This record gives sequence, structure tokens and C-alpha cells, in this order.
Amino acid sequence: MKVLVIGSGGREHCLVWEISKSKLVDKIYAIPGNAGMEKLAECLSMDISSSNFDDILKFVEDKKIDLTVVGPETPLVNGIVDNFKSRGFKIFGPDRKASMLEGSKVFTKELLQKYNIPTPDGIFFKKEDYEDAVYFLKKKGEDKFPVVIKADGLAAGKGVIIAENKEQAIEAVKDCFVRNKFGGSGDRIIIEDFLSGFEVSLLCLCDGSNITPMILAQDYKKIYEGDKGKNTGGMGSYSPVPLVNKGIYEKILSKIMHPAYNALIKEDIRYQGVLYGGLIIADNEPYLLEYNCRFGDPETQAILPRLKEDLVPLLIGCVDGSLGKKKLIWDTNKCVCVVIASNGYPESSSSGDIIEGLDSLNKSDDIDIFHAGTKKSNGNIVTNGGRVLGVVSKADSFKECRQKVYSAIENIKFNGKQYRRDIALRAEGMDQNEL
Ligand code: GLY
Repeated sequence: MKVLVIGSGGREHCLVWEISKSKLVDKIYAIPGNAGMEKLAECLSMDISSSNFDDILKFVEDKKIDLTVVGPETPLVNGIVDNFKSRGFKIFGPDRKASMLEGSKVFTKELLQKYNIPTPDGIFFKKEDYEDAVYFLKKKGEDKFPVVIKADGLAAGKGVIIAENKEQAIEAVKDCFVRNKFGGSGDRIIIEDFLSGFEVSLLCLCDGSNITPMILAQDYKKIYEGDKGKNTGGMGSYSPVPLVNKGIYEKILSKIMHPAYNALIKEDIRYQGVLYGGLIIADNEPYLLEYNCRFGDPETQAILPRLKEDLVPLLIGCVDGSLGKKKLIWDTNKCVCVVIASNGYPESSSSGDIIEGLDSLNKSDDIDIFHAGTKKSNGNIVTNGGRVLGVVSKADSFKECRQKVYSAIENIKFNGKQYRRDIALRAEGMDQNEL
């Protein structure tokens, strides 16, 4: 069969890599893809950010594509799945209505509140309520900070601000309502209680009636070691997550993921695709921070390498509504992904810096490199964005994974290369837990 993957990041390279292992697949295309995917997929340059999918649909029709897999959230929220389905093409991902779970944080919070699903308390404000939002923050006791300010719509991972004090919170509200930093995505906000604990991601495959949890992963959102500095799209990830014991895992499923999925069904939302739960564990209790309507990046790069079965029938099962309550088969080893970013990230990013050393990493190094912001230029592979590469290793222990990944990173060189050295450090020595 012929498969098309939409997207250009590390997550999509990992999806292409995993799909290329399937016995069912003869040919893979990627739109637009990146320099790393070119070995496995034919990459085509087309715009995926608009809500007009005519060119992609024509391509799918001409090439007789059997399955399209959507990586990023923007085409999903813009209704790519609705467009494909109305033309009878198979596509993996939720439709526009179901993608609201990521497309509107207010929508999701209201759903969670309506069905009593554990989530931090939050209060909503519209742009025209600017003065009320400031008043609300001013009268809040200093001991009630930090608070979290969330822009309602898509904001490329930048729309969640942790405000340590009143002044920062008011500035964040101004960013949304006065400075229009997030465009229309900031026309509504949630001011949410800050919970302290640790975060974990649970991605579930959904076929419209059932959910099938994948293995847990943890990502590192801050740019600097020790979780300092600005938020990024994710600087690394690892799987499994030994900090989560069986009791917490059961609560994640029974108090959050299953009731929320049942709530969607009650609300007449048939969610098909991957549902990403971003959770925080505070005092041994899980709370839902956010839903994403797609695979996580870079969680996917630490999850899929451990999948011990063909991904493609699982994706088709979601699309056809036939996956059921399947139990997935996983390797018992560990997996670590460290992201290498370009100079200036996350405030800016640099492009055109030549990346050296990629060829020195061969199979015997037990390393997989997933490209994100890369492109080919004059015979070289050069940087082309903020997150450039994800370096991944699987091994029996987190310590071994980390050793392999970090020694591989030493060999990869480009101007301004930056990465965190503490990815999965907290999991070292905790290899016995397989959740
Ligand atoms: N790693 C965070 C995300 O995919 O949204």
C-alpha cells in the first residue's frame, strides 16, 4: 500500500521510519517532509498550514494513496480529515470537531468541568473582559501564585505561561488581550491554578468507540537543564516512566482517560486518531493539564521505537473503527530521545548551518537520528529551524541509553548546537518499573 505522512518534524520522521518497517507498505510519501525522511519517503513541497487542502487531495487521488497520516495539529484543527473523508480517502486523525480538544483549551476545560474529570481549577475571560481579568488577578492573594495563563487556541506550544507573581500574570494577560501576541488564539484565556508535581504524557489510539493506551513517556519542555528557562516544543523525552507506579497509572486511566473519552461520546464527538493526554501527578493524584489531538513531539520518538508490532494495522484500525480494546506489545527496554536545537532557540532559530558528523553514526552505534529542522543545501544537510535533530537510543537501562545518546551527540557538529544534558537522568537506576 501507499502511505502519505503530513508534516516535517522529528515526530513525522519517526512515523515515516516506523511505517517503513511495515510489510504492508510499498511506498511512502511525505508532505513536506525533511532531509532525514528523504531516505525513506518521497518528499513533496506543499503548504499544509492553510485550510485549503485541494493540492494535497489531488495528489492523494492521482497517486492512489491508501492511507494518510497527519502529524501536526494545525491541519487537523483546520479540518483536513473532514475534507478527506468527504472524498472517501482514508486518513488517520480526528476530524475538526474532535480536534477542538487541542484547538480550544476553553472547550476542553468546560468538558472536563462538566464531567468532573480531575483538572486544575480555572476561570475563563474573553478579550472584552480584560479589565475583569486584571481585577481578578489584583485581588488574588500573593500566596495564590504562581498561576497559569493559557491562551485558548493554537500557539505553537507558546500559549501557556506560568506567572510567578501578580505582575507577571498581568503582563501575560496583556500579551493575550492587548499586545495580541497570539493573534486570535489569545482572544479567550484561562487563568488556572498552578499544581506542583511531575508531568507525564499518555498517548492513546482511539477508534471512535474504544481507547488503547500506548506506553507512558515524559518530555522536557524547558530549554535549560534543571527545567530552567523558556518553554520549547520539547527538548527530549524518555519511555517508560518509572516515576509512575501501577496505582497512579490505574487512576490515569480510570479517572481521566476513560471517563473523558466516554464524555466525548456523550457529547456526540467521535474521536478517531491519537489522543494525547498531558497530565500532572500531584500528591499521587493525576490531573489533566491538556489534550493534544496528535502524536507528541518528541514523545513519539521515545515511544514508537519500543513498539513490537506493525504500526500500520493499528492506524488503519483507528480509521476504520475496528481497533477495539487492543493490548499493544512493547519492548521491555528503555528509550531516550535528546533533541539538538539550533542557535537562538526558542526565541528564534537559525538556518543554513552545515550539520557534520551524521554519516559517522552507523547502525552499530545503536542510534537512530530523527530529523526535524533540516534541509539539503548544495549537497550538505543544514539547519532549518529551531529543533534540528532528535538522537534516540534503546537499551536495557536508562544509563546505557544516555551514554549512547550523549556520545553520539558529541559527533554531531553545527554552529550554535544546543541540547540538554539531563534528559532521563531522573530515571537512571529506576529500570525495574515498566510503565
Ligand atoms: N511534547 C509536547 C507536545 O507534543 O505537545
